[in-house]
Amino acid sequence: MKIVYQSKTGFTEKYAKMLGERLGITPIRLKDYRPATDDEIIFLSWVTANGIAKLSKVKGKCKIKCIGAVGLAVPSEENTNNLLNANKICDIPLFYLRGGVDFTKLKGLTKWLMKTIVKSDIKKNVIVGDSETILTKGISFVSEDNLDEITTFIRS
Ligand SMILES: Cc1cc2nc3c(=O)[nH]c(=O)nc-3n(C[C@H](O)[C@H](O)[C@H](O)COP(=O)(O)O)c2cc1C
Repeated sequence: MKIVYQSKTGFTEKYAKMLGERLGITPIRLKDYRPATDDEIIFLSWVTANGIAKLSKVKGKCKIKCIGAVGLAVPSEENTNNLLNANKICDIPLFYLRGGVDFTKLKGLTKWLMKTIVKSDIKKNVIVGDSETILTKGISFVSEDNLDEITTFIRS
């Protein structure tokens, strides 16, 4: 079993390393991985406009035991169902892991877009905390506990 991951600003990488520690597997960056049909992988990647980044690089090219999708949205059944539909996933278990936003690593239009979303989330109390710090640095929702469900599934 391999852990393969794609991360833009580091949250998915954190989860990949934490999961790797739990399972005793060294995670591999997607760019360092060449899919093989016999490989069984756990694929972790970040959510962008409801898409799971780079999923097409592994889907159908190796056995995917499960997917960990890392996004900023609050976890909910509706959110997970949206991800399943938007990414046309019907036969692979998907686990949503809440990541965060790191404004020190985003640039240009993407940074502006994420600031708009986060400002609105702060207004709606979906994101709580010191707004100035959040809008300058960002916020992380990464925690060990978030990995419990996917870990139990992999071990079962
Ligand atoms: C361009 C862009 C689009 C995003 N779209 C979504 C989205 O549709 N749903 C979501 O939950 N998070 C979305 N996010 C938030 C990221 O998924 C979140 O910041 C994630 O933790 C990034 O993981 P990474 O640090 O591994 O790259 C988006 C972020 C960016 C930059």
